[in-house]
Amino acid sequence: MSNFDNVKFSNNDFKSLIFGRHSIRHYDPSVKIPRSELKEMLAEATTAPSSCNLQSWHFIVVDTDEGKEKLKKFFMKFNYPQLESCSAMVLFFGYTDAFKKYRDLWQGMYDRKEITHEMLEKIFATFLPLYEHASQDVLISDGTRDCGLVAMQFMLLARAYGYETNPIGGYDWTKAAAVMGLDPQKYFPVMAVSIGKPEKGAQEVETNRYPIDEVMQFM
Ligand SMILES: Cc1cc2nc3c(=O)[nH]c(=O)nc-3n(C[C@H](O)[C@H](O)[C@H](O)COP(=O)(O)O)c2cc1C
Repeated sequence: MSNFDNVKFSNNDFKSLIFGRHSIRHYDPSVKIPRSELKEMLAEATTAPSSCNLQSWHFIVVDTDEGKEKLKKFFMKFNYPQLESCSAMVLFFGYTDAFKKYRDLWQGMYDRKEITHEMLEKIFATFLPLYEHASQDVLISDGTRDCGLVAMQFMLLARAYGYETNPIGGYDWTKAAAVMGLDPQKYFPVMAVSIGKPEKGAQEVETNRYPIDEVMQFM
């Protein structure tokens, strides 16, 4: 991924990034993350895998008071502490029409000689028809997975840039797209992620996990 050769992380220690992540719900409200940095983190997060490279995601970054007021129209009250104090709330929407851009994406790769003609034909003959004939349920299910992966990458990247996050599903799913000006027939909410610097001294919830033997099996 040569585009990202010059990325500078403030923390590049994988162990600390992954095991040090905890949901942070109280942020220092005086911290403003530059839009260029938010954009950079999201661009880097899109290196996430997605179903057939469909990238069926769309992000809305809310970092203004007016934007946050809009979110209050559908966020549950118990998520107001994050909403009011975070530097930004990033909404991850799935996009069920992503397959319509698919032909151009792969054609571009072929034109730049990144894939062979055989590969191009294979994609047009196999994956594309799958999506063109897919039900809305399948498109939503694929988009949900894609968004989950890109959101997780974003949360880890946030830590690499020195910020903390909280994934949020506690809002009215039926209202999110319309209130944010998206077509609810094509965009569906998957989750929101608050991001910022933690408020000093705030008490956060400790969590633990089930023992691995309870949740796995070999076959
Ligand atoms: C899909 C999803 C939705 C969540 N929704 C909320 C939410 O609405 N409000 C909240 O405070 N935390 C929410 N969380 C955070 C979880 O409570 C948290 O990840 C879990 O308790 C484990 O804690 P940890 O993130 O500190 O490891 C959500 C997490 C996920 C993955």
